[in-house]
Amino acid sequence: MLSGIQPTGRFHWGNYFGAIRQYIELQDAGEAFYFIADLHALTTVREPERLRGFVRDAAIDLVALGLDPERATLFVQSDVPEVAELTWLLMTVTPMGLLERCHAYKDKKARGLTADAGLFTYPVLMAADILAYDADVVPVGEDQVQHIEVCRDLAGTFNHLYGDTIFRLPKPRLVDGAAKVPGTDGQKMSKSYENTLDVFEGLPAQKKKIMRITTDSRSMEEPKDPQQDHLYQLFSLVGSEKEVAEMAELYRRGGFGYGDVKKAVVAAANEAFATARERRCELESNPSKIDEILAVGAERARAVAGNVLERAREACGLRGSSTRGRNQ
Ligand code: ADP
Ligand code: TRP
Repeated sequence: MLSGIQPTGRFHWGNYFGAIRQYIELQDAGEAFYFIADLHALTTVREPERLRGFVRDAAIDLVALGLDPERATLFVQSDVPEVAELTWLLMTVTPMGLLERCHAYKDKKARGLTADAGLFTYPVLMAADILAYDADVVPVGEDQVQHIEVCRDLAGTFNHLYGDTIFRLPKPRLVDGAAKVPGTDGQKMSKSYENTLDVFEGLPAQKKKIMRITTDSRSMEEPKDPQQDHLYQLFSLVGSEKEVAEMAELYRRGGFGYGDVKKAVVAAANEAFATARERRCELESNPSKIDEILAVGAERARAVAGNVLERAREACGLRGSSTRGRNQ
């Protein structure tokens, strides 16, 4: 099992409840590899210091949120240079038309913006990420399913040309699409809409944002369907089962104030992430710990990716490791 997460900002509730939490739960279901996709992030983050910070924060956040480096392999994409070489091999069997249909590139072009070759070939790098670790299952959100199909397509073509057993064909595993987390304005939570609640932001700042969440204009006396209200939806992510059931009842009955619901969201969020916050503080106070985790992860990942790359190199006629580096 393998999945990657782009370090393009601090994780918000949408990232956590929509993706990360489910990836982490899967670490118990089999051998798991998780990486921080810094090469992909280079297509959008152009400030080196910010990128370095995002990568480090992503690693600390993931471990604090429960990714267990003893059970799962956590590493940084660019620490495995084999993947970049594999990308080239795959690029030689990638039809332009296939990439032209991929949404990140297509959307940017449709908005009249110029795209670079990095964005255009993004799905090929992603295919190399997946194939390099012989992944069977790739847990992703709906927006990434197209990229897994591209990956299967490229692996199939390469295998067809050079030998059936080179690449293992992966399958996507859709993480719960129902978990479309709303932002503070009721639209989908996203960095691009500036409506996020971040998992590890300071409590006073978070409280301020929660108290400013937009609410329904209907009078507080009217009964309401809780499922239609984004404040309730946010509460249901962080509240306990019992609290959430009680809150739903309150909505159906009517006669309550949104201010109280907001206070309940603040308290429940505080509680829900308390352990993760503590773990995060510990990791931050011991900076060599996270470096060590990433170094061990990179070593394990390189061992697997090295074998796969070797298979692919030899199959397509490049020199193998036994002949390379020798004076002949
Ligand atoms: P953003 O929209 O903030 O830029 P990303 O596109 O980086 O977020 O999201 C990374 C992953 O997090 C997505 O593939 C998706 O699975 C998940 N995700 C992001 N926002 C949400 C949301 N509001 N609800 C559910 N899942 C989300
Ligand atoms: N493109 C993915 C995203 O934006 C991140 C990613 C890169 C990825 N390589 C991957 C996900 C390989 C799964 C497998 O969310």
